[in-house]
Formats: sequence, structure tokens, C-alpha cells
Amino acid sequence: MREVTNPSEVANALARGHLAILPTETVYGLGADADNKIAVGRIFTAKNRPANHPVIVHISGQEHVSAWAAQIPEYAKDLATAFWPGPLTLVLERLPRVGDYLTGGQDTIAIRVPQHPVFRQVLAALAKEKNDQAAGIAAPSANRFGNVSPTSLAHAVEELNDYLAQDDLALDGAGSRIGVESTIIDATASKPIILRHGGVTAEDIDTIVHLSRNESHVRAPGTLASHYRPKRQLVLTTESELKNSRGGALIAMQDIETPVGFNRIASPENADQYAHVLYSALREADKSSEAVIYAVPPTGGGLAAAIRDRLNRAAT
Ligand code: TXA
Ligand code: MG
Repeated sequence: MREVTNPSEVANALARGHLAILPTETVYGLGADADNKIAVGRIFTAKNRPANHPVIVHISGQEHVSAWAAQIPEYAKDLATAFWPGPLTLVLERLPRVGDYLTGGQDTIAIRVPQHPVFRQVLAALAKEKNDQAAGIAAPSANRFGNVSPTSLAHAVEELNDYLAQDDLALDGAGSRIGVESTIIDATASKPIILRHGGVTAEDIDTIVHLSRNESHVRAPGTLASHYRPKRQLVLTTESELKNSRGGALIAMQDIETPVGFNRIASPENADQYAHVLYSALREADKSSEAVIYAVPPTGGGLAAAIRDRLNRAAT
């Protein structure tokens, strides 16, 4: 794996079937040309990810969704208009040309238009390279299966360097602004259903279209199992319980004091900051000498919902 700075060089490598670590505003991704079955297959090998886990295809704009998906409901178009480019992924009926290697054998395809300028430069260069404006980059988070997602190039390289080939590339983007993954919406039914909480909040979505209260029939494997796991034991706790704990690494909002015996790793001031530092704090805690990581989940709505979701899975 080689670190480069030129988005066109990365697009050229992707078009020739190589992989690239790429920055997005949510977390770093491991990308491949979405039309290249062999290259996408190599993502699964590098991540040690089960083959039936579908991947998100990243495209440059809403106008290209129809190259990948069929039957796009009106509310999905409204959500796309409101939140793309940005941390929103829409699960839609796939077109017949979309292969099982992208969808894990399901009849749906997950599409996102990312906002990170560096990622967008790579998409634009890939569209030129392939002479296809609808060109897509298939990219899961750039971590080994089950691990914490990377929010910096260094963390992505640390995760995947040993599993990438000599001609694969890595491109930096000065870190991920949001720090937790995109919100995934099942947009195959008459009303939208949240499959994964993320960068676009439920409250944001509700201003555009009312969410369904039904269970989704869509399978989103990565959201079921325990995930986002640090290497050390993670214990979720409250401010009052903390005082009765034996001590360890601590991640909590700034207004929560650090009891004696704790090694404070992060003190975010609000939910946005909590999301921004969460994954790097878990990595830092893993590297500390503490045997146990304590985290006090944030309360309330907004990004706090996504943070609680990730912490719950990480502690499973
Ligand atoms: O923010 C993000 O979404 C990041 C950046 C790189 O874009 N990507 C990401 O990808 O988090 P990944 O593969 O780590 O998580 C995607 C989740 C998985 O849980 C997968 O099961 C679900 O999306 N998914 C993908 N395609 C799907 C589909 N067709 N139907 C249902 N779930 C799908
Ligand atoms: Mg992931």
C-alpha cells in the first residue's frame, strides 16, 4: 500500500482494479470501482468480512441514482435533495445490472452521495477515467470486520496495511468531520425506516418525511451483530455508578467529573463533539495500560442516538 496525494492517481488505480483507502466526512472507507467484481471481492478479503454483507455504493450526485436503483419513492428523492451530499445512505430496489457481489445477494442496493471534497474529487476523476458520469465507488468502513471504524488516515492504515497489496493506495483528507457512519434508511417501503442511526438525525429526517414505525424487512447484517468493538472490555455506566467502579479509562461528557483512579480519555462538550472523538478515543483507550474502558453514553436526541447505538454494540 502506498500513500498518495493526487485524487486522479487514485481514480486511475481504482479503474485498473486496485483498492484505495479514502476519506469521507463520516469515517474512512476502503474503496473499489463498484463495477469491478474482483476488486470488490478483495475488499471483503482485506476486511475479513462475510460475503453476504452488502456494501454501500458512493456516487457523485442524486441524478445518477437511476443508473443503480429502480423504483425510487418520492420521499427518497426528497431525502436525497435535503441531505445529499452528506451522511445519508438510501437502501433502494436494485436494477438487474447490479451484481450480487455488491448486495450480498439481496434485491436492494445501498447508495450514498458523500460530501467530503477529496472523495468527490476521486469520484469526478473516476467518472472521466471510465467515461461514465454514474461511476460508483463501493466502500465499507476501512476497518477489519467487527473493529472500530477509522476516522483518520493513520487509523485506517493501522487497520488494513497488512492486508492490502503493493499497488493499493491511500489518500488522506485531514480526518472525518462527523466521526460516526452514515444514517441508513430502508427506502423500499411506502414510508422510510431507519436501519442504522448516523450523521443525519431522526429529527432531521422527520422534518422532510415521517418515519415508519414498522420493522424493516430489509436485512442489514452489519447492524445486527456486535460491532465497533475495542480490544479491551467496554463498560457502559452512568455518572453516579462511576463512583462505585474500580477505575480505568474514561470517556464521558465534559460536565462529568473524573473520579479518583480514572484515566480520562475524552471530555466532549456536546453530542457532535462526542461523535467526532468517539472512535479515536476507543483506539486510544485500547493503547493505554487500563484493563477496562468506561463510557457514559450521552443522553438526548440528535447525534446522541447514533453514539448510544455504537456504544451499545461496542460493549456487547
Ligand atoms: O458512513 C458510512 O456509511 C461509511 C462510509 C465509508 O461511507 N460506510 C460504512 O459502510 O459504514 P459499512 O459497510 O461499514 O456499513 C454499511 C452497512 C452495513 O451494515 C451493511 O449491512 C449495510 O450498510 N448495507 C449495505 N448495503 C445494504 C443493503 N442493500 N441493504 C441493507 N443494508 C445494507
Ligand atoms: Mg463498517
